[in-house]
Amino acid sequence: MVSARHGGSWNGPIPSDAVAEIVVTRNLPEEILAPLHEVGETWVWGDDRPIPREALLEAVRDARGLLCMLTDPIDHAVLDAAPQLEVVSQMAVGVDNIDVAACHRRGLKVGHTPGVLTETVADTAFALLAAIVRRIPEGERAVREGAWGPWSPFWLTGGDLHGMTLGIVGMGRVGSAVARRASGFGMEFVYSSPRSEGPGRKLGLDELLRVADAVVLCTRLTGETRGLVGRPQLQAMGEGSYLVNVARGEVVVTDDLVAALANGEIAGAALDVTDPEPLPPDHPLLGFPNCLVTPHIGSASEPTRRAMAELAVANLVAGLRGETMPAEVPWR
Ligand code: DGY
Repeated sequence: MVSARHGGSWNGPIPSDAVAEIVVTRNLPEEILAPLHEVGETWVWGDDRPIPREALLEAVRDARGLLCMLTDPIDHAVLDAAPQLEVVSQMAVGVDNIDVAACHRRGLKVGHTPGVLTETVADTAFALLAAIVRRIPEGERAVREGAWGPWSPFWLTGGDLHGMTLGIVGMGRVGSAVARRASGFGMEFVYSSPRSEGPGRKLGLDELLRVADAVVLCTRLTGETRGLVGRPQLQAMGEGSYLVNVARGEVVVTDDLVAALANGEIAGAALDVTDPEPLPPDHPLLGFPNCLVTPHIGSASEPTRRAMAELAVANLVAGLRGETMPAEVPWR
């Protein structure tokens, strides 16, 4: 970390006499941040780990704009610490870490990054689905561990993707993109989504869990979806079915998933998101060969992460200029 000021931005500890009109909570490429310098003095947390709470509370004291990550809880304490704040712009589509209602009550605009990550996250959902159904991680581990013997008729046999019925929970952008891929893979699909309509057959969640061979969670995390998939839902899925989560870890009750895997109540799970995050290396979920966990990399292709950062910057610039933000979280 450097404490010097570079072309209108500071990296590292904010100087005590500094006025940072714009605070960026993670080190992003300078060329992506460049448009911010036109709107105000910018301070960037110069580290690739989340900004500590105390540093954030200190940094935002003069901020009009905040570019934040999903790892930063933006709650009353942060908003109270930032009396000048006008715009919160998150580099993610999900804004469950932000008290959006509180922002809106205070007249703040909130931006996020929908659209640009849809296809990448749907690709990840399919990569996870294929990997768990065809037991790719188990096979790969066996090769590395020297357990690959002569070809064997029923060693590491899994299921088939083609011919499956896929149950998509949440038919928003990502859910629709998953549905398109399901058709390409020769799958049937059904979906449940309280508010959105999409292609395919819409079912209630209970029925979807009963008929689907694999369930992909693509829903936002809200009060309604927190803990949506617990033990009863996992038992309803049945022992031949798989769970894929590219939404938020908290949509699934982690202890219930551990119990369901321990008792063979589902065939396997592939999770890009977990509760907690990061998942400690000694977590029980990591003890199951039929549970694949990736570290919240659903949108982590290079072009997509750049597009997300650029959109977050564009939202902040537009919001601070009083212009329409390219992607504002709607006021409810
Ligand atoms: C999002 O945008 O909400 C994703 O979880 C980030 O990959």
